[in-house]
Amino acid sequence: MLEELRQVLQPWYLQIKFIHLLAVMIWSFSTAVAYTWFIRSAWISWKKHPDVAALKKRRDWLMEQFDKGASLEHIAFPVLLLSGGLLFWTTGWTLESHWLAVKLLLVTGVFVPMEIVDYWLSHFGGSKRQWREKGDHARYEKLMQWHWAFFRISTPLVAIFIPLIIYLAVVKPAL
Ligand code: HEM
Repeated sequence: MLEELRQVLQPWYLQIKFIHLLAVMIWSFSTAVAYTWFIRSAWISWKKHPDVAALKKRRDWLMEQFDKGASLEHIAFPVLLLSGGLLFWTTGWTLESHWLAVKLLLVTGVFVPMEIVDYWLSHFGGSKRQWREKGDHARYEKLMQWHWAFFRISTPLVAIFIPLIIYLAVVKPAL
């Protein structure tokens, strides 16, 4: 049964690769402009003048919008994992291709854990809007701080490891 499925999928390898690449493009940098030019600058301005209500309001609105905006990235991520898994499975790639082994190590060791935290912060218990609507301002503020800490930790990892993964996948260096 599984072998039959594999044979059915094999002629579609390049189409699956197209889906994989499209998902990689959407996932990798779809939040970069919003983070750099909106969230970051709003957060820094508020930090400089924490008592200015308008700056806090702007920070809160942008962070809540960002939670929603991350949906695109978070739909693309499972598509990327699934299509990558299919590429691996249908055509007999193995971890003897060391570029692929390193890539998968980075995906499972860095990006899967990072995305689990990010899903939670953006859409589940950590999503800010629900706490504002419930009137729990202490929780709201705590989650804002956690999300900011998450941004500060994840930004350098994203900037270093996403280009590295793409380099490994495209160049396939003999390691
Ligand atoms: C953050 C996650 C990932 C990124 C950024 C990524 C990136 C890429 C890119 C840019 C390519 C295109 C290479 C080319 O056309 O030359 C590619 C191909 C491929 N990826 Fe991924 N990928 C990711 C996750 C995965 C996962 C989880 C798997 C397997 C379980 C996987 C397996 C593959 C395979 C087998 C190829 C085909 C290489 C080829 O035919 O040239 N990828 N990936």
